[in-house]
Amino acid sequence: MKRCILLFAVAASTMLASTPLSAAGDPGKGEQLHRACLGCHGTELYVPPRAKVKTLSALRKAVAEWNDRMNPKFTKREIDDLVAYLDRDFYHLAR
Ligand code: HEC
Repeated sequence: MKRCILLFAVAASTMLASTPLSAAGDPGKGEQLHRACLGCHGTELYVPPRAKVKTLSALRKAVAEWNDRMNPKFTKREIDDLVAYLDRDFYHLAR
């Protein structure tokens, strides 16, 4: 019985850890990092009518794809920060 409770606790915490929260990144840091992205476009792409991204996972994907063009590239952690910044100031997808 004790073992059962333990397994449940492990499963529950794994589920919590894998929930895609925008809070995973630091939006303040992302805002600074984002200056490096402004060479090609401004923030007008992130708002209607231009914005195409509609979900948090699509936003993460777009940032990761554009990161391939960056030199030096951002780390996973910095991508989280960028996503958190874009969501806080423009997309508002994580609630
Ligand atoms: C080489 C030029 C270039 C660089 C560098 C670049 N972007 Fe972009 N980005 C674009 C273009 C062009 C589009 C528009 C593509 C389209 O309309 O389908 C775009 C689209 C996007 C979108 C999707 C907007 C939407 O909702 O439709 C996001 C998000 C984005 N960029 C974020 C970033 C971030 C974050 C960085 C820095 C890591 C970055 N970009 C660097 C050229 C660039």
